[in-house]
Amino acid sequence: MLNDKKVLFSGMQATGNLTIGNYFGALSNWIKIADEYETFYGVMDLHSLTVRQEPAQFRKRARSLMALYIAAGLDPVKNCIYFQSHVSGHAELAWILNCFTYIGELNRMTQFKDKSAKHADNVNAGLFTYPVLMAADILLYQADVVPVGKDQMQHLEITRDIAIRFNNIYGDVFTVPEAYLGKSGAKIMSLADPTKKMSKSDENLNASIYLLDKRDDVIRKFKRAVTDSDNEIRYDESKPGISNLMDIYSCATGKSHDEISAEFAGKGYGEFKIAVGESVADILDKLQVEYDKILADKSYLDGIIKENAQKASYFSEKTLRKVKKKVGLTERIK
Ligand code: TRP
Repeated sequence: MLNDKKVLFSGMQATGNLTIGNYFGALSNWIKIADEYETFYGVMDLHSLTVRQEPAQFRKRARSLMALYIAAGLDPVKNCIYFQSHVSGHAELAWILNCFTYIGELNRMTQFKDKSAKHADNVNAGLFTYPVLMAADILLYQADVVPVGKDQMQHLEITRDIAIRFNNIYGDVFTVPEAYLGKSGAKIMSLADPTKKMSKSDENLNASIYLLDKRDDVIRKFKRAVTDSDNEIRYDESKPGISNLMDIYSCATGKSHDEISAEFAGKGYGEFKIAVGESVADILDKLQVEYDKILADKSYLDGIIKENAQKASYFSEKTLRKVKKKVGLTERIK
């Protein structure tokens, strides 16, 4: 890299609408650590093709995700925010790495098993080799750290295994990446079933708060959030609904669980739920103003997309050239 900073890679799929789970669990942490690393944040649109997409809507969603990254506070000049499909190296390296990955390994991926059960009518080869493309994403930029949620840990493990296997044959080609588990580790649960993770693909629209939800909807959903009936605002495993709301309020305000319990001592759930709703709506209001501005300025966003695709291509090409040479592919004559 150009400076001494370590490299960080992460990304999200351009599928579904982002929720506050993605925001508090991932995006807001990306922003906090961005300055410490040389960062690459992809809009992982190639991964999204493993599930059938409606083309026009998909294109819009991918652009919307890019705008959300920026609106949430990722400076697109300091952070390389780009579309995965704009850098052909991802698909090229994925092919090469496919030849260094065993079917047995891929068969053990729990996400593949889950997804093939969910999309039984479309268990395509892309779904099977999804982790190899993910490995290519990460290894292409020689990433040192990868912030991921628990559900992606297995994919990071296989990435490390592939990198080590490749390095053992060809020498030190790839940096072996580490997982970066966020300091706060906020895992936001569904408002309808607080034992389940909040998901951007939940069929129950009341279960999730979407980043683009309007204020009234945010408040209404929080008012309806499933809780227990003892009416005490206390963080407790046996009270997953209230504990989740406390986590959300803590993320939104920076207050600790104890501070929150003190603030709402003697007050009921109704009042607490509204306070949580307002604190989240305040954040989303600001984010949405930025988001609208960014999307309205077509030439600004196009400029970012173009420049960052070039920057990402530049870095990825270095790795790809090395890999091709190592495996013995013939160099192109220019
Ligand atoms: N599979 C990740 C998810 O669904 C998205 C992703 C694709 C990713 N490639 C990545 C995350 C590389 C981190 C690094 O959340």
